Amino acid sequence: MKIAGAVNIEDLRQEAKRYLPAMLFDFIDGGAEDEQGIARNRASFDAYRLLPRYLRDFSAASQSVTLFGRQYASPFGIAPTGSAAVFRPDADLLLARAAARADVPFVMSGASNGLIEACAQAASGRMWFQLYMTRHRAHDEDILRRLRDAGVDTLVVTVDSEARSRRERDLRNRFSFGSFSFKPSVVCEALRHPAWLYSYFSNGGMPTMENWVRYAPPGSGARDVMRYFHSGLPGMPRWEDVDRLRRLWPGRLVLKGILHPDDALRAAELGVDGIIVSNHGGRQLDRAPATIEVLPAIVAAAGDRLTVMLDSGLRRGADMLVALALGARFTFVGRATLYGLAAGGQAGVERAIAILRDEVDANQRQLGCVDLRDLGHENLWKDGRITAASMPAVQPLRKEERK
Ligand SMILES: Cc1cc2nc3c(=O)[nH]c(=O)nc-3n(C[C@H](O)[C@H](O)[C@H](O)COP(=O)(O)O)c2cc1C
Repeated sequence: MKIAGAVNIEDLRQEAKRYLPAMLFDFIDGGAEDEQGIARNRASFDAYRLLPRYLRDFSAASQSVTLFGRQYASPFGIAPTGSAAVFRPDADLLLARAAARADVPFVMSGASNGLIEACAQAASGRMWFQLYMTRHRAHDEDILRRLRDAGVDTLVVTVDSEARSRRERDLRNRFSFGSFSFKPSVVCEALRHPAWLYSYFSNGGMPTMENWVRYAPPGSGARDVMRYFHSGLPGMPRWEDVDRLRRLWPGRLVLKGILHPDDALRAAELGVDGIIVSNHGGRQLDRAPATIEVLPAIVAAAGDRLTVMLDSGLRRGADMLVALALGARFTFVGRATLYGLAAGGQAGVERAIAILRDEVDANQRQLGCVDLRDLGHENLWKDGRITAASMPAVQPLRKEERK
């Protein structure tokens, strides 16, 4: 199948599966433990029906969204995904270019391979950066300086990824980036995916974390740079780290991975500008709630104090409309654009974005919605009723009850 022939994200997923060796496809596609979280993410979107309002004039319908004072062409952006150059060389640049062409934000991962300066230029003002705070504070501060110099004004701190999670597909495949080598089982599998194998070796094999080359000991190879980066990761960030970063970073600060209304409130109290309600696409805590389940409670608790965004499990434009109707201001996709990247490089990412954009448009018009800001509970049908009357499942603690 040619990329242009892909009609939905699942088609791109199948193409990515054909292109990549199984252990790499599983790394993208898989999640923690029983992968209940992945299934729950999907089921929670599917539990909502969109309630159309026909007979309206929607000729002026637009899906553009204003976020942090800037207009984007669609209500979704590209979530940070580390090590993507293993799937396609120059992955971060390709993602950045596709984001620029589609006029959507691209969040560069702190564990990416590309160079901040080059990707920011390719994204033409649409790049955000996800920082891993390390023990190497001077390096972190240098990265902040480089981001400012490159014109990046939005910093994302991921709160859920530094605790170990058990991804059983990776355990069975004995796969980790740190120990990825061409042992016989890998060679056999790679030979069945010759296009990937050729591309991998003709681009120098294991890609380097370019941002960290200047900080690692001189002469470090790709693996040494990766080891140096990982050796500095101190574990889960804490509130005091957020506080410190808030004082260091003059731009917009976003926390990614918030699932509890109280944490959303606490973030607001520390001066954080936005949160991405996320369960890391089901890759971290398998029993975490779906983001759609906790979104209403988070919006009720803190939606007037910071910008609430959401990711995890979005595969359709209709999923985005459900998230917006429940109060999210914006959404992100991780795997959807990664499948596109693996399937066809920049053209594959652009195809993924075009598919999602087209789906948003078709569903928005069916809903009779001219401006996405008008979406609300009255557009949703769940459990036999319009959801307007439903109460958040989790109530935030009163201030005096919070630690
Ligand atoms: C292969 C892969 C790598 C990821 N790497 C990162 C990362 O470096 N930093 C981060 O904050 N999130 C990372 N994520 C999580 C995504 O940013 C996002 O939260 C998740 O993919 C959303 O769920 P979805 O894939 O169902 O859209 C990664 C996800 C995948 C699939």
